Amino acid sequence: MSTGTPTGPRAGSRTDGLGLPPGALAAATARVMARCDELARLSSMSGGIERVYLSPEHARANRLAERWLREAGMATAQDAAGNLVGHLPGRDPDAPVLLLGSHLDTVRDAGRYDGIVGVLMAVEVVRLLGPRVRTWPFGLDVVAFWDEEGARFGKALLGSSALAGVWDPAWWDLRDADGVSLREAFTAFGLDPARVGEAARRPADLVGYLEAHIEQGPELDGAGEALGVVTSIAAARRWEIAVVGEARHAGGTPYDRRRDALVGASEAVLAVERICREEHHVVGTVGRLEAFPGAVNVVPGEVRLTLDLRGELDETRDATWARIGGELDALTGRRGLTWSATAVHDAPAVRCGPLFQDVLHAGIAAGGQGESPALFSRAGHDAMAVGRLTDVGMLFLRNPDGISHHPDEDVSAADVERGLGALAAAVLHLAHERSLV
Ligand code: GLV
Ligand code: MN
Ligand code: MN
Repeated sequence: MSTGTPTGPRAGSRTDGLGLPPGALAAATARVMARCDELARLSSMSGGIERVYLSPEHARANRLAERWLREAGMATAQDAAGNLVGHLPGRDPDAPVLLLGSHLDTVRDAGRYDGIVGVLMAVEVVRLLGPRVRTWPFGLDVVAFWDEEGARFGKALLGSSALAGVWDPAWWDLRDADGVSLREAFTAFGLDPARVGEAARRPADLVGYLEAHIEQGPELDGAGEALGVVTSIAAARRWEIAVVGEARHAGGTPYDRRRDALVGASEAVLAVERICREEHHVVGTVGRLEAFPGAVNVVPGEVRLTLDLRGELDETRDATWARIGGELDALTGRRGLTWSATAVHDAPAVRCGPLFQDVLHAGIAAGGQGESPALFSRAGHDAMAVGRLTDVGMLFLRNPDGISHHPDEDVSAADVERGLGALAAAVLHLAHERSLV
């Protein structure tokens, strides 16, 4: 993590602050925290949080968030991919918009802040800036994205890819764990697959995209910093891998006659860790592994596992995958096994826009944090897909102990309040910087 030195608008250029009534930021923060709790109750899992794309919880969360967007003075619509969008026009209804947002879907047994806090902070920024926006030559859109996680179909960033206009028709045939295709799930949710293109925005209609998110790692917490500015978002790829051997009797089959797919897959898991540790800023995770036929007295004949690979740079991520592939060839060859991989997700690294980094540093400075840290994001975000369309910026909030994708995931109300002030000030700086107000 380096300490960023903003080159654009600095603390002092708009230290008049936000001009808010006393207590406005605290009240906004209280709403954000209470609404994170309220959304946490919309879950398909008892005793935990799970909210996946195109599920009944998706529909219920959109209805709730729609109410909050309207309360903030926005017109609302669900787009053709199921994202919820709130719109507050500037002085010209046809002028471009600045997008603010994050996602409302979760992983299984999730925390209550990943994505959600960014959506709710965006709603409050609109509410805080309120009537001022109506004098600007650009409007504000809040987007509550769906399927940043890829928890249901393996492919992540579906909603933000639709908005970015980079939807791949091959995704229609992706299937969830129950065998339901993405196409079928779209239809069951009441969306029309043929119209997904209507969710796409045009670059000329956008000023850019700003997203607040918990860090999902320990760097800010370790450095004792509440807020940080993201420089870039790590490249990610995911595969479903099959290792195939031969199922045979567990008692009757001597070792020299075994082609045990699970022992081979286990060696592969260890190879992933070893190779990634040797590379710079690369992490690989086997998050799911299933053995078939899955009987206590049968040598496993097939294993299906997932691999999630992240790298700060596309090149190191891809070179790491090539090394892993070589290792899979070698170990399956030694053991009389075969392997194959289906790629389900590929998101190149994205650099955040310099102006967006500058206004976020300035927004943080306006709140009194002083020089703010700059760090790259190891986790994936909707900004990766939106970054293919327009400039993006991300504000990170301290995540105690860096724990995320876990029920203990946390963020303090004090940091959310700091983040709200910084995000709202960044939007003001952006308007000022572009000489649009
Ligand atoms: C989303 O949180 C991801 O980085 O997988
Ligand atoms: Mn997230
Ligand atoms: Mn997540």
